[in-house]
Amino acid sequence: MTSATSGEFTDRGGLPRILVTGGRGQLGREFARQAGDRAVAPGRDEMDIADPWSIASVLDGYAPDVVVNAAAYTDVDGAESDEDGAAEINIDGARNLAQGCADRGIRMIHVSTDYVFPGGVPGGGDPATAPGLEPHDPTGPVTVYGRTKLAGERAVFEELPEATVLRTAWLYTGARRVALEIPGGDFVATMIRLEAQRETLTVVDDQWGSPTDVTTLTSQILEMLAAEKTKRIDTSGAVHHVTDAGRATWFELARAVFRELGADPERVRPCSSEEFPRPAPRPAFSVLADSRWCELGLTPVEDWRTSLARGMSVLGAQELGAQDSPGSMDTGSSSSPDTSAPTGGDGTR
Ligand SMILES: NC(=O)c1ccc[n+]([C@@H]2O[C@H](COP(=O)([O-])OP(=O)(O)OC[C@H]3O[C@@H](n4cnc5c(N)ncnc54)[C@H](OP(=O)(O)O)[C@@H]3O)[C@@H](O)[C@H]2O)c1
Repeated sequence: MTSATSGEFTDRGGLPRILVTGGRGQLGREFARQAGDRAVAPGRDEMDIADPWSIASVLDGYAPDVVVNAAAYTDVDGAESDEDGAAEINIDGARNLAQGCADRGIRMIHVSTDYVFPGGVPGGGDPATAPGLEPHDPTGPVTVYGRTKLAGERAVFEELPEATVLRTAWLYTGARRVALEIPGGDFVATMIRLEAQRETLTVVDDQWGSPTDVTTLTSQILEMLAAEKTKRIDTSGAVHHVTDAGRATWFELARAVFRELGADPERVRPCSSEEFPRPAPRPAFSVLADSRWCELGLTPVEDWRTSLARGMSVLGAQELGAQDSPGSMDTGSSSSPDTSAPTGGDGTR
């Protein structure tokens, strides 16, 4: 059950025994925070999904009921010149983990991305109003990162047809990352930092997506796992999309962050993708929707603006460090999430 006030999962007693890979990434950290003693979240140094022996040793040692694969090569631009490196983790690593789970009868949830989609609006409609992309819509990644993530989904199903693939999008930790000084960046955290440093900044306004607070994604997965334990739902063998509700451009998201900070949103100016070329072209439209997920009976996801506002409230919280430091997890670095901030140039115009 998700609490309406915090957006977090609260009924830990109903959870299976969970192991989350990529424990020092933003999703891994949030799992450790929300699931408490029901989850372990080893970092890459403790469990390397590119190494089948490492996987075997940790799975046998901890004996989880469920593995959530949050480990990934997420440097979207870096992957363009490091296809082998991205494939080793996003394809081979995902396959290794699925094999390890299949051999031991462990349930597996594999996390994937909106970047498996090509970026066009199906039917050529207006991106501001067109229906979001459903799991059955045609994929067609245009980046190395997207291609390796899509191949990783397929590898997981080949090894473990009962796995569940959850695609998410525009994931951020945001204010919590800033308040706890967690290394690395995500778009919202970057905007919070830039607001303090720059008079104006320019942000891409022609890419549409589904901003998603990592708190929402984590609480949805935990609620799903608790519901599966009582056999209330079954998502195995399927792809689902899990994001906050609504849609935005990066520019709109940046302005919303400024508003939450009490700063003048006019300081954020729009620009086009052409004005801000990147090594990896971002999809122009990757808004996700999932009618089947909405019918599962889980706590409905809220609009991204609601989640953002709730997340931003931690910035003034005195007790944050004591309450929310990530339990048993180390404080290693998390780098280059797959939506690294598309501000214009150095962020200033
Ligand atoms: N961030 C987004 O906007 C976004 C959007 C859509 C989907 N997703 C997906 O959501 C999932 C979680 O992403 P995230 O934002 O939490 O990413 P993240 O913060 O970059 O974390 C990924 C973690 O995986 C670890 N890792 C890399 N290679 C590994 C290996 N061989 N074995 C074990 N761990 C390894 C990384 O460790 P190192 O730092 O040591 O490399 C890092 O801690 C990923 O599947 C990603 O593709 C993310």
